[in-house]
Amino acid sequence: MTAFISHRLNCSEFFFKKWWNSPFSLSICAALWPSLLTPYSLSWAGHEAASKNFMDKDLDMSVVGRSFMITGANSSIGKAVAMAIAKKGGTVHLVCRNKERAEATREEIVRESGNTEIYVHLLDLSETRRVWEFAEAFKKEYTSLNVLINNAGCMVNQRELTSDGLEKNFATNTLGVYVLTKCLIPLLEKCKDPRVITVSSGGMLVQKLNPTDLQTERTAFDGTMVYAQNKRQQVVMTEVWAKAHPKIHFSVMHPGWADTPAVATAMPQFHQMMRDRLRTAAQGADTVIWLAVSKTAVETASGLFFQDRKVVPTHLPLAWTHSSQEDVQVFIGQLKTLALTVRPSGVFS
Ligand SMILES: NC(=O)c1ccc[n+]([C@@H]2O[C@H](COP(=O)([O-])OP(=O)(O)OC[C@H]3O[C@@H](n4cnc5c(N)ncnc54)[C@H](OP(=O)(O)O)[C@@H]3O)[C@@H](O)[C@H]2O)c1
Repeated sequence: MTAFISHRLNCSEFFFKKWWNSPFSLSICAALWPSLLTPYSLSWAGHEAASKNFMDKDLDMSVVGRSFMITGANSSIGKAVAMAIAKKGGTVHLVCRNKERAEATREEIVRESGNTEIYVHLLDLSETRRVWEFAEAFKKEYTSLNVLINNAGCMVNQRELTSDGLEKNFATNTLGVYVLTKCLIPLLEKCKDPRVITVSSGGMLVQKLNPTDLQTERTAFDGTMVYAQNKRQQVVMTEVWAKAHPKIHFSVMHPGWADTPAVATAMPQFHQMMRDRLRTAAQGADTVIWLAVSKTAVETASGLFFQDRKVVPTHLPLAWTHSSQEDVQVFIGQLKTLALTVRPSGVFS
C-alpha cells in the first residue's frame, strides 16, 4: 500500500520535495484523500470525469453590460477565460506585461468573438509601485468593474529582486494581487454582483502560512516552495477579504495541472513526466469562468477554495498547515506595510 501511494505521489514535482511536516501524516492523508493527492483528479481525465456533473445551464448566459479584468490574459488559462467571457458579450480588460502578446491576444479575441469591447492595459505585476498607479488610474477612467480575476502568476526559480527591491515571486503572486485587489475594491463595491477570483494552486496544500519570511531572506531559496507559499498566501488573503468586504464574492481556485508555458518552463521534469495527462488551458480555465459568471457560484459562501466547480478543503486531513489568527494578522500587517512603502506619492487608496 505504501509503495503504491509513493508511486502515485512521485508523479508530482511538489511531492518530490519536502512537502509535509510528518511522514506519518503523508501516508495517512494519501490514503484518506486520494482525489486531491493523486494526479488523476488534476489531469485532463480527472477534469473529464468531474465535468460529467457540471450543469450546462450554469454557463449558458450573456454577460453583456458586465465588466471583467483579467491579469495574465495573453496566455493559456487567462486567455481562455478572456475568450469565453468575450464570447458571452462581457467587456474585458486584458492586463498583460507584454505589448505585442497583449495586442495579438486582443485581435484574436475580437476576431473570434466579434466583441470589440476588449481593452489592453500594460502592467508588470511584479512592479508594485506600477500596480498602485495602474489601479488608481483605472478607477479614474472607468466607472465600473464587476469582476476581477487575479490570474497572472510566476515561479521564478532563482532569487531575483524587482526594481522596488522585492523578491519577484512574492511581488508578483502576492503583493501585486494584494495591491491590485485592495485598490479596486471600492470600485467593485459600487457595482452589481461584484466578484474577485484568484487563481491559486493545489501546490499551496504543502505549505503553512509563513508570515515571518515573506521574501525568503532567512531560508534557502527553493522556487517551487516559494511559489507554493505564495499560493497559500493567496488563499489566506481571500479568506481575510471575504470577511472584511461582504458586498463582494471572493473565491480562490486550483485549475488542476494544465499544459501551459508556466509549467513547461518552471517545472520541466514535471511537465515532461505528466505531459500526456496534463489538462488543456480550456479545462484549467473552466472553474475560473464558472466562478466569474455563473449564478450558482455565488450561492456558495465567499472566501472558499474551488476545484472543478466544487468547494474543496484548504488543508489536507491531519495537516499541520493551519495558521493562527495571530499569524494571519502579522501577514496582513506586513503586506500593508510593504504596499505602503512603495506607494507612489499622491496615491491615497
Ligand atoms: N498550469 C497549471 O498547471 C497551473 C496549476 C496551478 C496554478 N496555475 C496558475 O494559473 C495561473 C495562470 O498560469 P498558466 O498556467 O496559464 O501559465 P502561463 O500561460 O504562463 O500564464 C501566466 C500568465 O501570467 C503572466 N504573468 C506572469 N508574470 C507576470 C507579471 N509580472 N506581470 C504581468 N503578467 C505576468 C504571463 O505573462 P507573459 O505571457 O508575459 O509571461 C502570462 O500571461 C497562474 O497564476 C499559475 O500559478 C497554473
